[in-house]
Amino acid sequence: MEGIILGIESTAHTFSFGSVSTEGELFPSFSSLFRPEEGGIHPREAADHHSESTSELLKKLSSNEDFSWDSIVAVAFSQGPGLGPCLRVGASVARTLATRLSVPLLGVNHCVAHIEVGRNQTGCIDPVLLYVSGGNTQVIARADGRYRVLGETLDIGIGNMLDKFARNQGMPFPGGPKIEQLALEHLKNGPKSLDEAYLPYGVHGMDLAFSGMLTSATQKISEGLSLEQVCWSLQEHSFATCVEVAERALAHTGKTELLLGGGVACNDRLREMSKIMCDERGANCFWPEKPFCIDNGTMIAELGRRMLECGIETKIMDSAIDPTLRTDNTAVVWQ
Ligand code: ATP
Ligand code: FE2
Repeated sequence: MEGIILGIESTAHTFSFGSVSTEGELFPSFSSLFRPEEGGIHPREAADHHSESTSELLKKLSSNEDFSWDSIVAVAFSQGPGLGPCLRVGASVARTLATRLSVPLLGVNHCVAHIEVGRNQTGCIDPVLLYVSGGNTQVIARADGRYRVLGETLDIGIGNMLDKFARNQGMPFPGGPKIEQLALEHLKNGPKSLDEAYLPYGVHGMDLAFSGMLTSATQKISEGLSLEQVCWSLQEHSFATCVEVAERALAHTGKTELLLGGGVACNDRLREMSKIMCDERGANCFWPEKPFCIDNGTMIAELGRRMLECGIETKIMDSAIDPTLRTDNTAVVWQ
């Protein structure tokens, strides 16, 4: 049946409604970002933000001229992983809408949605995914009907590390874009050497670690290095670790496509480093447009679409959220 799949994202700081046509045309999302006044994200406060934003976001979505409630053929939502209270808000809204509209409900794996929206947007077929976000850092590839995690962070996500460093230096959330800007400032006066600003390089086999890098970067500031220099060094080191593991994943799997996803994939330096690596080994490098890198409802709708095509549906009784859902928990039956 032709129509639109609605997608609802609520795993952490972003509450977002997006949609995709049954043919796979992606439509922009309507989102609201929870920004804590100070400190990190408190799950309860973020969930309150999501509840309070619901009616305004739904109004924006439905006042769009391309939108009609009658055209919705399914409602997809992030079932996990994420912060329990936040996931619960999205799941409740999804259950209500699916029941009210009498359409199928689809519980979606958020990590897999980052991959599927990237595949839709870029046209890559069977990529290694470098999934770099606040909460997650994973190198993933499809094998035997699952997206397998070939390597991942052993402590915190790369985005979380950037956000924490930024917060320690008095910059507001999200810190990644501001760090990118300061790193560019550092480069304005010509090429730079890392000699003064070495940080611990956290690669452990196929896995990664970022907390040592964070501690050391903070130390460099107290030793008198400029904020711009440390931001630059932090990007160079942390991105190099991710690109190294991604390259090894390409080599081991024999795949020839690299896809970037997650909020940190908005970063132009990470894109550049990934492209250089791919060019050197004859692989192709892809990234979605920025609004589809950060968390968004459209990516949830897109994975919902793939599942719906395969006849998958989530019964209300099976729609409980799963805050610890893993990328490889989800059977991948679509092409
Ligand atoms: P997930 O649930 O998948 O872990 P998330 O909740 O962290 O996702 P995303 O929107 O995927 O949400 O990613 C947000 C992260 O992306 C933040 O840590 C933010 O600092 C980072 N980020 C956004 N833009 C940039 C950028 N230009 N450079 C570096 N990091 C960025
Ligand atoms: Fe995400």
